[in-house]
Amino acid sequence: MSGAPSTAWADLRQVTVRYGRVPALEQVTLRITPGERVALVGANGSGKSTLLRVLNGLAGTQAGGLHCDATLRQAMLFQRPHMLRTSAQNNVALGLWLRGTRWRDARLQALTALQRVGLRDIAAQNARTLSGGQQQRVALARAWALRPDVLLLDEPTASLDPHAKREVEALMADFAASHGAAGPAHPVTMVFSSHNLGQVKRLASRVIYLEHGRLVADLPVHDFFNGPLPEAARLFVKGELG
Ligand SMILES: Nc1ncnc2c1ncn2[C@@H]1O[C@H](COP(=O)(O)OP(=O)(O)OP(=O)(O)O)[C@@H](O)[C@H]1O
Ligand SMILES: [Mg+2]
Repeated sequence: MSGAPSTAWADLRQVTVRYGRVPALEQVTLRITPGERVALVGANGSGKSTLLRVLNGLAGTQAGGLHCDATLRQAMLFQRPHMLRTSAQNNVALGLWLRGTRWRDARLQALTALQRVGLRDIAAQNARTLSGGQQQRVALARAWALRPDVLLLDEPTASLDPHAKREVEALMADFAASHGAAGPAHPVTMVFSSHNLGQVKRLASRVIYLEHGRLVADLPVHDFFNGPLPEAARLFVKGELG
């Protein structure tokens, strides 16, 4: 299968995920093509994290069909970044080493990635002692260093102060404007969940609104904020924007 931009990266048909009796996703049908910047929005418990985990291959599905182009490399940032009890540099290097890079080279590439997120100065600091915002940036460097074609981010700026939020957002925009390891013909795809509609406006090209696990709206970003919406989505946007 070619990785040509017109080919879907992910194709979900009627995907359902249940935890016991709780429906986390209900019959979700969705195609994502390379280069898209997709925002997932919806109330707590609407299924955003579950959908990201399905896309990352981490959540099993009970029904429906799921196809992801395995030739495209992907990386995921979780709602709370997990840092190992070692330096920021080693945290980034380990991801590369696990993918087969020699440890010496992995350490060097980790430094470059940390520089890119503005953290070269604290490369030697134990990652567990970094602030939340710094840890999120280390996690971004860790994902970045892997040169993924697809980046999945679960509320990447949820716990950050406004300054750190802006920094991480700028890094996401930078990342979205770059291309994958396969070259300029392979734009990076980004899927992120967010409760921050301003951020959604700034970063997304397409918005998916989930409610109780159902996909209720799937629109280009301009239409989501300016066009008519299903009632539930309209009330959500109104409420979030205050
Ligand atoms: N591992 C699990 N075991 C049981 N129930 C789960 C599990 N993961 C998710 N759920 C349930 O599935 C539903 C969707 O959860 P999910 O975490 O995907 O929502 P979300 O939109 O990411 O919410 P939030 O905005 O709070 O992060 C919720 O009802 C949640 O309680
Ligand atoms: Mg979540």
